[in-house]
Amino acid sequence: MVEIKEQTQETIEAHGGTLINREVKGTERETLLKEAETFKTLTINAWSISDLELIGIGGFSPLTGFLGEKDYLGVVENVHLTDGTVWSVPITLAVTEAEADNLDIGEKIALYGEDGVLYGTLDLEEKYTYDKVKEAQSVYGTTEDAHPGVQKLYEKGNVYLAGPITLLNRPTHDQFKEFHLDPSETRQLFQDLGWKTVVGFQTRNPVHRAHEYIQKCALESVDGLLLNPLVGETKSDDIPADIRMESYQAILKHYYPKERTRLVIYPAAMRYAGPREAILHAIVRKNYGCTHFIVGRDHAGVSDYYGTYEAQELISQYEAELGIHIFKFEHAFFCQKCENMATQKTCPHDKSEHVHLSGTKVREKLRNGEALPRQFSRPEVAEVLIKGLQRGSNA
Ligand code: ADX
Repeated sequence: MVEIKEQTQETIEAHGGTLINREVKGTERETLLKEAETFKTLTINAWSISDLELIGIGGFSPLTGFLGEKDYLGVVENVHLTDGTVWSVPITLAVTEAEADNLDIGEKIALYGEDGVLYGTLDLEEKYTYDKVKEAQSVYGTTEDAHPGVQKLYEKGNVYLAGPITLLNRPTHDQFKEFHLDPSETRQLFQDLGWKTVVGFQTRNPVHRAHEYIQKCALESVDGLLLNPLVGETKSDDIPADIRMESYQAILKHYYPKERTRLVIYPAAMRYAGPREAILHAIVRKNYGCTHFIVGRDHAGVSDYYGTYEAQELISQYEAELGIHIFKFEHAFFCQKCENMATQKTCPHDKSEHVHLSGTKVREKLRNGEALPRQFSRPEVAEVLIKGLQRGSNA
């Protein structure tokens, strides 16, 4: 049995001990913006911009930049950084060999988005090649390119650039302004609200009854819920973030206690790395100031690449080191006989009594404008989703 120290808002530290801030502001920023005009430039994609942002704002504490080779190998092979801190998904910046050849160690590189915005700079300390198949197998548990995370990995350039970053401009997340807080701000918010214990909830889907059930089970034991949906890049058949954000507001308004819930975006890209990503998700929520984190069935999974409870099994191995309490929930469903949400732990009835809809079926129904069973989804949520999908995403 691992000893797990109970954390509260006052004691929960950022991962690795210090909440990182790599963003420059004011005159320091003005000076660097000017200097960067003389730097060599690199254009980075939306995924890398979101990584840059999360490093910059401390969501990925203790990382201060893109991983160097030793840390990278430590993470891939052994789920730890070289200093012994647990870390599960490599945060790297890939470029082509031609791009790498043009950049020298010791230089500062200006990182631009495809939109022409200068997002930050990289102090280039290392360039190294890496084994994609090995990374795929270790991090994603498969080498198949049908896996969306592996597919992205195989498409990347063959060289990783490493070194500390500085964040100069962020993606604005304008459409989610009201829900855009940094880890330092959520930490302050929890203190202001007097929440000593806070459960973080990761999602890339609308909140359906099963999600609501496990969140509320957790909320019975802690002071507050941080609904922290991922709004960065997801695969094309996931429901777009702007439509989901509307649906979260609808369910919170109608079914959650206002003073015990907050909605804040998690501006990361989805990796679909299942067990490994569950660990990353827990670390990030710890950095946002959560004392607890939910891992349910097939967390961050895709198709049938991972076993239903594989994420729970893996995270259990690191729970003491992670320093955030993990609430693990079994597969939840509505049981017609119980007339309630339940899991195998609480429901004695046959599976035929359980309302089940696959993600594909749900999307198909919504796209056809068909209502979802009330036992599966709150009507207010289904209504927002149907309207949103018919209208199309504004993201
Ligand atoms: S995820 O990719 O972000 O993990 P999703 O948004 O579906 O996907 O899940 C959010 C969280 O709810 C995860 O912890 C997941 O394990 C959990 N979850 C989703 N559906 C269920 C369910 N029916 N029963 C129990 N846990 C669930």
